[in-house]
Amino acid sequence: MTADAPPLQIRPVARDDAAAIAAIYAHYVDHSVVTFEEAAPDAAEMARRIAATVAGYPWLVAEQDGALVGYAYGRAYHTRSAYRWTCETGIYLAHDRRAKGVGRLLYTALLDALGDRGFVTAIAAITVPNDESTRFHEALGFVAVGRFAGVGFKQGAWQDVGYWQRDFGERPAAPQSR
Ligand SMILES: CC(C)(COP(=O)(O)OP(=O)(O)OC[C@H]1O[C@@H](n2cnc3c(N)ncnc32)[C@H](O)[C@@H]1OP(=O)(O)O)[C@@H](O)C(=O)NCCC(=O)NCCS
Repeated sequence: MTADAPPLQIRPVARDDAAAIAAIYAHYVDHSVVTFEEAAPDAAEMARRIAATVAGYPWLVAEQDGALVGYAYGRAYHTRSAYRWTCETGIYLAHDRRAKGVGRLLYTALLDALGDRGFVTAIAAITVPNDESTRFHEALGFVAVGRFAGVGFKQGAWQDVGYWQRDFGERPAAPQSR
């Protein structure tokens, strides 16, 4: 963040944030292949997703100058029980608030919260190529682990998805109960 930027607040999501979050996400649903959703969820559906997520995972938002400028969350990577120390992460900024350091602050807070909850590793699925997101994830400690070819069709083309992984430290011999 530059010294003269308005202060940024990172806080847990609130139910009233659903409409602003839906608006941020809709831009990427409608104009990008970053997400494979093709119909943007409305505020009510986003509120349902938030409520379902916060039961087990952190969901944080970034606020600046009175506006919600981004959000990041953890969610299940797979639902089968032995996966429960592994999470998937997601982050979306308002499209005109990117590349100003907000993502780094928001994702750092999210990763800290996930580590504190006993997750041992986080996985990010990224439609590739996407230099912005892959460089961002690597700057935050994620490493590339693999790639699936042509697993989605959006914007008139088959899309590849790469996976990046970030551990939260050494795995304990026996994990915390979760
Ligand atoms: C990806 C995203 C979350 C990054 O957040 P951001 O606020 O733009 O990134 P930051 O300004 O905090 O940058 C942090 C680091 O990421 C990398 N980075 C960010 N944007 C980059 C770009 N366009 N090209 C290359 N590297 C970039 C840099 O290493 C940067 O480090 P630096 O600050 O030392 O230069 C944000 O751009 C975004 O919401 N993009 C659209 C949605 C999306 O792709 N979400 C991820 C889905 S997998």
